Amino acid sequence: MANQFINNLLKRKTPDEIITESSNSGLKKTLSAFDLIILGIGAVVGTGIFTIVGVAAQGGIDGVAAGPALVISMIVAAIACFFSALCYSEFASMIPTAGSSYSYTYATMGEFAAWMVGWILMLEYAIGNIAVASAWTGYLFHFLKGFPFLPDWLLNPPLWLVNDYRSAIKICQQQGLDPHTQIPYLFDTIPVAINIPAIIIVLLISVILVKGIRESTRWASIMVAINMSVIATFIIAGMFYVKPENWTPFAPNGFEGIFAGAFLIFFAYIGFDAISTTAEETKNPQRDLPIGIIGTLVACTILYVVVALVLTGMIPYQNIDFQAPLAHAMRFVGKDWVAFVISIGALAGLTSVLLIYQLGTTRILFTMSRDKFLPRSLQKLHDKFQTPHVLTWVTAAVVIIGALFMDIEISADLCNYGTFTSFIIVCIGVLILRKKEPNRPRPFKVPFAPVTPIIGVICCFGLMLCKLKTLSDSALLFPLWLLIGAAIYFSYGYRQNRLEELRVIARKNRESKKLKA
Ligand code: ALA
Repeated sequence: MANQFINNLLKRKTPDEIITESSNSGLKKTLSAFDLIILGIGAVVGTGIFTIVGVAAQGGIDGVAAGPALVISMIVAAIACFFSALCYSEFASMIPTAGSSYSYTYATMGEFAAWMVGWILMLEYAIGNIAVASAWTGYLFHFLKGFPFLPDWLLNPPLWLVNDYRSAIKICQQQGLDPHTQIPYLFDTIPVAINIPAIIIVLLISVILVKGIRESTRWASIMVAINMSVIATFIIAGMFYVKPENWTPFAPNGFEGIFAGAFLIFFAYIGFDAISTTAEETKNPQRDLPIGIIGTLVACTILYVVVALVLTGMIPYQNIDFQAPLAHAMRFVGKDWVAFVISIGALAGLTSVLLIYQLGTTRILFTMSRDKFLPRSLQKLHDKFQTPHVLTWVTAAVVIIGALFMDIEISADLCNYGTFTSFIIVCIGVLILRKKEPNRPRPFKVPFAPVTPIIGVICCFGLMLCKLKTLSDSALLFPLWLLIGAAIYFSYGYRQNRLEELRVIARKNRESKKLKA
């Protein structure tokens, strides 16, 4: 009995089974390698480079500053991502399925681990989107301030209509205000705050996604073009104000600052892995997915390193702003018009991240529901647009509800934990499949395996440990998230999978009886 239970938990799907199932998905194959890089940059460049970069350099409210060594933090985070990107590429070219690391885990570690990875991916994509939606609201008001003739209710709305309750209370504390005078309270005890702009943007993104992935890439291309031009403007305009003396002291808090910065700035790189969730909609996945994944990571790393050098060279690191650092740096050197342009780029960048993350969430949930972990009704495709519209709205609801309770810090940390864990599992998965199926054709192979995946695991685990040991709210919520995931599996997914096995046996029996008759 116990043996049977354990066997069930470890039940694998072969890569061939996964490929066959995904080939019947009904999703349209329209994406090229170029589309993938656009989607990739769209998924990566956002809150990290427009907001979190400031916290990492300057230390934020109670963190450790990386200082000008931010550039080293960027490189450390990029290295951790690079090894994982190679492993993602091997899997994505070998098992091109929308399930991404969830499906790769199914093929290597079995049913329970696969479910847990899918559940963890929700942290990365859905909970990560809460952080992005909050940052989006912040930049929206930064942008609106460029139009001083607008009515005051639009330029300075009440705190509780543009923040989650945690952020609203934090802002009151920072400004020495009594929250009871700024935020309505339910029964005098429960603060009520709703980030309305975040809700509106999530709803708009859902409408675009329901209309179809072609339209989604078109939107993403426009957003990427805008935010790339804006970052280029920052680099070119800022270059002339770089003073090398701002780079000393280079690492004011030594390795502690560098690694704390690397954990934070890791958020800026998350998203290249989301490309693998579009595998079933890619024209030539074996060739294009590795190009998309690695190309995106290399492009973003170069961009980020240059931005970090210019930012820390323009302004002493202690003066870097941690809410809108790039725009503030431009104001610091008297270039107000560039600051305004940057808020436009930030809005574009954050919008494309929201779009692609929600796309990723729906595609993974789609695969999980196909595997009986979630109700079948979620798989329903839209009659006209052929997109998983039920899942798109379910995901939107999760983000909107989450945005009521979580602030940007908690959601970004949780997103980082989830992503580190899925990267670690993908690196280990590559090693397992190399052992289990050494002869399976691999259109892309991780070079120098097993060394490369092992370094990937060590880098991701090391950075994650740096933060876990601080025992912050998010460090405690992460294990709780895992426990909830396990509880859902044992009360629903496990049973549904066993019932499905019985159904398959009954079907086979019926078929063999028919043949005999
Ligand atoms: N990399 C994404 C961003 O920075 C998550 O917004």
